[in-house]
Amino acid sequence: MKIAVFASGNGSNLQALIDAEKAGELSSGEITLVISDNPGAYALKRAEEAGIPTYVQAPKPGETRVSFDEKVTEVLRKKGIEFIVLAGFMRILSDAFVDEFAGKIMNIHPALLPSFKGACGIKDAFEYGVKITGVTVHFVDNVLDGGPVILQEAVPVLPEDTLESLEEKIHEAEHKLYPLAVRRFVDGKIKLEGRKVFFK
Ligand code: GRF
Repeated sequence: MKIAVFASGNGSNLQALIDAEKAGELSSGEITLVISDNPGAYALKRAEEAGIPTYVQAPKPGETRVSFDEKVTEVLRKKGIEFIVLAGFMRILSDAFVDEFAGKIMNIHPALLPSFKGACGIKDAFEYGVKITGVTVHFVDNVLDGGPVILQEAVPVLPEDTLESLEEKIHEAEHKLYPLAVRRFVDGKIKLEGRKVFFK
């Protein structure tokens, strides 16, 4: 199954997926393309080092979301991409894009959704003072961070935690959870009924 990973930044989740694929843990899943909207993303270096083709498309001033996404869709079609994995991709996808790949786009969020949606999930949870936060892997639909939940893992916030130590624990949990979710999808083991995800 041909996978495209979308990443805008560091790409540590991309790296976890690359490592999982190398270790034979993604079943027939193959990361065949890494897409970024940020030419400076370290994720691109990780892809290049792993020998994975990259496609970079920085948004042009004034360009609409729909036009941006149409170009990306074209690239995905040409490459025969069957599954899209968002890993720190900092753009909101257009409804048309989400509809085109309905049920085939996954995202990872660094909090227990539906709590602490948005770009600063770890910090928001830390500052709120929750005792438990975590990681969510979910399908992407037309609501930001709102699609059906696939897997979640709780991460306790201890009194001695700093934002930095919590970030570290969250990322560690992400790097374990994301490859598991990707593998289940690749193996056709995920069944979606309404908002609920079941495993076959
Ligand atoms: C992760 O915390 C992920 O949950 C969020 O963005 C961050 C990306 O980190 N969506 P990285 O680029 O994979 O290191």
